[in-house]
Amino acid sequence: MKRMLALLLSTLALAACERPPMDSVQHGFRGTGMAQIYNPRAVEAQEARNEVPPALPAAPDEGPKAGKLYKNVKVLGDLSGGQFTRLMVSMTTWIAPEQGCNYCHNPANFADDSLYTKVVARRMIEMTRYINSDWKNHVAETGVTCYTCHRGQPVPAQVWFRKKDEPYGSNFMGDKAGQNTPDRDVNLSSLPYDPFTPFLLGNENIRVNGNTALPTGNRQSIKQAEWTYGLMTHMSQGLGVNCTYCHNTRAFANWEGSPPQRVTAWHGIRMARDLNNDYMVPLTEQFPAHRKGELGDVAKVNCGTCHQGAYKPLYGRSMVADFPELKGPSPERAQVAKR
Ligand code: HEC
Ligand code: HEC
Ligand code: HEC
Ligand code: HEC
Repeated sequence: MKRMLALLLSTLALAACERPPMDSVQHGFRGTGMAQIYNPRAVEAQEARNEVPPALPAAPDEGPKAGKLYKNVKVLGDLSGGQFTRLMVSMTTWIAPEQGCNYCHNPANFADDSLYTKVVARRMIEMTRYINSDWKNHVAETGVTCYTCHRGQPVPAQVWFRKKDEPYGSNFMGDKAGQNTPDRDVNLSSLPYDPFTPFLLGNENIRVNGNTALPTGNRQSIKQAEWTYGLMTHMSQGLGVNCTYCHNTRAFANWEGSPPQRVTAWHGIRMARDLNNDYMVPLTEQFPAHRKGELGDVAKVNCGTCHQGAYKPLYGRSMVADFPELKGPSPERAQVAKR
C-alpha cells in the first residue's frame, strides 16, 4: 500500500514537470553556464499569441485637420480626417473589437466626454506618445501601441493592484510582509507578494548586496533582500527568461559581468514607475469602482503588462512604424518647448 502511494505521489510530482526535450540557448560568454532553457512547445504557443494584427493602409495627409473637422479634439488635432478615422478604427480593434466605437463614445454625440473610457483613452494616447518619444532607452525604435498592452481587450491581461497587509494569526505576531502566501505575481513562491508597491510605485532601493568582504556597513536586511527577489522573480516571469538573461549569477550585483539586457531592464524599472505615478495614479478618479483593486487603487503597469511572457513584447515586432501619430512628440516635451 505504502509503495502504491509512493508511486502515485512520484507520478503526480513528475506530471507537474515539463517533459523533455527542452531547448537551451547560450546567452552569456562561453563557459559561464548562462544558458536560457526553453520548452519548444510553450514557445510555439507563445509565438501564436504574439502575432501582430495587420495594419490598415496609411491614410493621406491632406485636407482639413481633425482639430477643424470635429468639436472636441484635444490631442489628435494635427491629423488629417483620413488619418484620424484610421486611428479610431484601429484603436477599436485593439481595445474593444466586440463593443465597437460605443465603448468610448455616446453614439448620439461623438464629441461628448461623458464615458470614462474616452477620457482614459485620451490620456492613454498621450502616454503611448510619451513612452515612444521619451523612453527610447527602453523601447528603442520598436516602440509600443495600444495593442502592446491591450491585445484586443479593454483591460490588459497583466496589471497589478496593491494588496492588503496580512497579519499572522491574531495580529500580535506582526505583519507577514506578504510572505508564505503563494501568489502568481511572484511565481507562486513564498516571497513578498507585492514587490511592486515599493519598486514600481515607490523608489525603494533594489540593491542589497554588500560591497565589502566583511559584513560592515551594509544596512540592508534579509527582509529587504526578499523584496528584491520578489521583484526579480516577477521580472523573469514577465519576460519568460531565467535570471541569467540579465545576470552572471557568479555575482548578481556586478554590472561588468552582466549582459546588456540588464541595463535595458534598469531603464524599464524606472519607466514602469514613471507610467504608474504620472499616468495611471492620476486617472484613479476616472475609473469606476469595479475596475479598482480591494484598496481602491487603479490598475497599474508592471513588466508583464507589455511583455506578457516574451523577452521583447510581440517578440520585437514593431507596430509604430505603421502608426507614426503614436510616436510623439510627448505632450510634456511639447509644453516645455512652448514655455
Ligand atoms: C478606445 C476608445 C475609443 C474608441 C473605441 C473610439 N474612439 Fe473615437 N475618440 C476617442 C478619443 C479619446 C477621442 C478624442 C481625441 C482627442 O481629444 O484628441 C475621440 C474622438 C472621436 C471623434 C471626434 C468627435 C468630436 O466631434 O470631437 C470622432 C468623430 C470619433 N472619435 C469617431 C470614432 C469612430 C467612428 C469610432 C469607431 C470606429 C471610434 N471613434 C472609436 C476614443 C475612442
Ligand atoms: C503600457 C500599457 C498600456 C498602453 C500602451 C495602453 N494602455 Fe490603455 N490601459 C492600460 C492599463 C494598465 C489600464 C487600466 C486597466 C483598467 O481599465 O482597469 C488601461 C485602461 C484603458 C482603458 C479603460 C478600459 C476599461 O474598460 O476600463 C481604455 C479605454 C484604454 N486603456 C485605451 C487605450 C488606448 C486607446 C491606448 C493607445 C493609444 C492605450 N490604452 C495604451 C495600459 C495601457
Ligand atoms: C530582465 C533582467 C533581469 C532579470 C531576468 C533578473 N534581474 Fe536581477 N537585477 C536586474 C537589474 C536591472 C538590477 C538592478 C536594479 C537597480 O539597481 O535598480 C538587478 C538587481 C538584482 C539584485 C541586487 C543586486 C545588488 O546590487 O545588490 C539581485 C540579488 C538580483 N537582481 C537577483 C536576481 C535573481 C535571483 C533573478 C532571477 C530570479 C534575477 N535577478 C533576474 C535585472 C534582472
Ligand atoms: C511600455 C511597455 C513596456 C514595459 C512596461 C516594459 N517593457 Fe521591456 N521592452 C519593451 C519593448 C517595446 C522592448 C523592445 C525594445 C527593442 O526592440 O530593443 C523591451 C525590451 C526589454 C528588454 C531587452 C530584451 C532584449 O533581448 O534585448 C528587457 C531586458 C526588458 N525590456 C525588461 C523589462 C523589465 C524588467 C520591465 C519591468 C520592470 C519592462 N521591460 C517593462 C516594452 C516594455
